[in-house]
Amino acid sequence: MVARIRRPNPSVEGVGVKGIVIAGGMGTRVHPLTLSTSKCLLPVYNKPMVYYPVSALMMAGIRDLLVISRPRDRAAYEFLFRDGTDWGMRITYGEQPDPRGGIAEAFLIGEAFVGDESCALVLGDNVFMGDGLPAHLQNVASPIKGATIFVTRVKQPEHYGIVTFDSSDQPIRIEEKPSNPSSNWAVTGLYFYDNQVLDIARQLQPSARGELEISDINQTFLSWEILCVERLGEDVTWFDAGTIESLYQATSHVRQVERHSGQPVGFPELVALANGWIDHHQVSRLGERYKHSHYGRFLKRFSERADTQ
Ligand code: G1P
Repeated sequence: MVARIRRPNPSVEGVGVKGIVIAGGMGTRVHPLTLSTSKCLLPVYNKPMVYYPVSALMMAGIRDLLVISRPRDRAAYEFLFRDGTDWGMRITYGEQPDPRGGIAEAFLIGEAFVGDESCALVLGDNVFMGDGLPAHLQNVASPIKGATIFVTRVKQPEHYGIVTFDSSDQPIRIEEKPSNPSSNWAVTGLYFYDNQVLDIARQLQPSARGELEISDINQTFLSWEILCVERLGEDVTWFDAGTIESLYQATSHVRQVERHSGQPVGFPELVALANGWIDHHQVSRLGERYKHSHYGRFLKRFSERADTQ
């Protein structure tokens, strides 16, 4: 397992780790919804799907993001995030010409962006939420040494990257969508790597289905014995919102949490506020921008609450 070096309060200044959001993909599993837009821009309750994975990176203290999409969808993402300064961040853009290049191609596209730094990657259709999430993310070592991935139990392991553990609970193998899965521990779409990931990505060969697989990168870190596999507890809920059923379930779950507990889920503005990257005046201004929507009212309410604290 990887040694952890913790900074006292990594969330305030940004942890100096680069973040990549991969929002490529053709979205064929939710056609015709994605004929004219990118899947990760579809709504999950009251906000675009991609807000959830972006919020997760922000919770980990990451302020510098590269958003990779199909060339066709790039302008829509630029319109949505602009340059990131509204949230006290820096957001730039990259393109994946053919989504069949695979998730791991993100490191080839983002090579110059990552430079000599460590890097986190999140899939644009992965929705993370729950009380336990901030602790998991803030505990990721900075500087990162090796890699950290997060796993959770799933009912249909053949649809995911799967980790097999030995009898002493040590990870021994990672396979992408095995036809005979030997475990139901799925790798979620949030990964933290040290700079070696760039070298590994450069040497990757396409899998049988022709993609550069993220599971092959994880397997390499595992074989070098520098992969930390964190099991997400019951206090974290995760959806891969890439199918129509999971998209509906994610929407329904977020709605229930926000309506019944009043707790915001996946609001980048509020993560930026909690991190000290923007102040409550800025949250209020952003809420004003969307004042006719449920989302905007939520922001206004939170900025007023922060004002009185
Ligand atoms: C991808 C990864 C897989 C991972 C999953 C999580 O699969 O290849 O390893 O378990 O995301 O969402 P995809 O959903 O792109 O088929």
